[in-house]
Amino acid sequence: MRAITLYDGTELPVMGLGTWAMGGRSRPDRSQDERALRALAAALTIGYTHIDTAEMYANGHTEELVGQAIRQVDRQQIFLTTKVRPPNLSYQRTHQSIEGSLRRLGVEQIDLFLIHWRDHTPLEETFRALNEAVQAGKVRYLGVSNFDLAELKQAQALSDTPIVTNQIPYSVTTRTYKQNGVIPYCQENGIVVTAYSPVEEGRLRAEGVLAEIAAAHQAAPYQIALAWLVQQPWVITVPMSHNPIHLQQNWDAAAITLTPEQMARLETLN
Ligand SMILES: NC(=O)c1ccc[n+]([C@@H]2O[C@H](COP(=O)([O-])OP(=O)(O)OC[C@H]3O[C@@H](n4cnc5c(N)ncnc54)[C@H](OP(=O)(O)O)[C@@H]3O)[C@@H](O)[C@H]2O)c1
Repeated sequence: MRAITLYDGTELPVMGLGTWAMGGRSRPDRSQDERALRALAAALTIGYTHIDTAEMYANGHTEELVGQAIRQVDRQQIFLTTKVRPPNLSYQRTHQSIEGSLRRLGVEQIDLFLIHWRDHTPLEETFRALNEAVQAGKVRYLGVSNFDLAELKQAQALSDTPIVTNQIPYSVTTRTYKQNGVIPYCQENGIVVTAYSPVEEGRLRAEGVLAEIAAAHQAAPYQIALAWLVQQPWVITVPMSHNPIHLQQNWDAAAITLTPEQMARLETLN
């Protein structure tokens, strides 16, 4: 799997796994556990090593399922991203959030810890806790999510270690963060753009240019949408799927090379 090299030489694969809706949405739904665990096991077998989750997902239960799944493999091979939700951005609650995620994931260190999105809490307060957590070895890297340009620059100024990513909505049909300058800024400054909802939560329409280019590559249209993302500098993505066939397709999408002309045609899709 192709990867982006972080500031300390660590390789972050361009194709990761999203986990929103695994084991429930905003609340745990234990009737979905087996389905989620099967998907996680299938993804690990395929070769996914970057797993993206959050304390918000199923109110912490998704992290428990991720923790359960990765106990079957070598922890060193896995790169775990999780996030603190806005009601927990105060100094004390950020520390508590990190402890909660560590416990539910069953690990001693979180690889990448993100502010899920901002609220009224001054970022200074949150970063005081985040910097301490990195210092204490509980978190390896810091990042943000859904941050606009001003917020991203403020985060960079407050973080003792480089902000490694801004996780944002980005797909062939969603360009808000390109238009507001965040994506170009990340690419110019060596910040990974983690594209979420890369296939529009399964609502991306597999027609027109996408279908034409897919036919030329004997690929599925969703694979082309993912290939378009990860062929861009500093862009990685984390599609979610419960379906082993889709998991494999998404993984394989990173190996598709689009021509400059195909990239340009997809660029105009918006
Ligand atoms: N930071 C944030 O605020 C934020 C917000 C949203 C999402 N995220 C993260 O980003 C991840 C991905 O975003 P998302 O889950 O919103 O949406 P997504 O990955 O764009 O779409 C997931 C949906 O697409 C379907 N799908 C996936 N691959 C497919 C394929 N190859 N062919 C056909 N259908 C396919 C899945 O159904 P099947 O199960 O049937 O394959 C699922 O219903 C999340 O899981 C989460 O980890 C972060």
